[in-house]
Amino acid sequence: MSKILAANFKTNHTRASTRAYIEALDAHLDASGYKGETYIFPPATALDRFETKADIRIGAQNAYPTVKGSFTGEIGLEQLGEFGIGTILVGHSERRHILGESQAFIAQKYAWFKEQGFTIVYCIGEPLEVREAGDDAVRRYLVDQCEGIDTAYEKLILAYEPVWAIGTGRTATPELIEQTHAVIKRLSDRPLLYGGSVKPQNIADILAVPGCDGALIGTASWDVESMVSMLETAM
Ligand code: G3H
Repeated sequence: MSKILAANFKTNHTRASTRAYIEALDAHLDASGYKGETYIFPPATALDRFETKADIRIGAQNAYPTVKGSFTGEIGLEQLGEFGIGTILVGHSERRHILGESQAFIAQKYAWFKEQGFTIVYCIGEPLEVREAGDDAVRRYLVDQCEGIDTAYEKLILAYEPVWAIGTGRTATPELIEQTHAVIKRLSDRPLLYGGSVKPQNIADILAVPGCDGALIGTASWDVESMVSMLETAM
């Protein structure tokens, strides 16, 4: 199966630099004939319709579960629809831990965007203290993060992102990814990505983990040449 690579820009890139990035990526993917799925999650200010030759899918990092309304600072379906966006990240650890999104709210958001037919990249992953508490604690934590989530949804892509590996340079070992993916695969048979300090130097080992369907990449995806290098490895 060809791999799914997703780039999460987080709070990086402008409208102009996102356009330049996607043009450069498209030229590369078109020339190389990459057959895997590629997702780019730019910041909300850079969402747009991008005419690409390759199959590059643009997603929203976040949106409020509403068509429109009074939700200051948020965007809804009307704003996403203007750019034909049909993909969204839900449950990212930065929204859980920095923005304080509860599992109940995340489940509400998930259900709403599922109802709209969105492709949902749903993120789960344990913090360091849970990892250190042992395998049972990790399993219970991941199960709790799937509470209220329809894990059989046909447009769901799961991403396992241990919090202690996000933006830290500390990557989970292939053995630990395989072991944790096995736990998650008991909860859902949908495609499962790994995220957490994925970079050109380690992506081959990560994608070689049995049952790993791709990667959700933050830091190392922000530079287009680094992203191209990881896509070349994924080919
Ligand atoms: O969404 C991406 C993840 O948070 C991983 O970020 O590659 O900078 O560790 P990272």
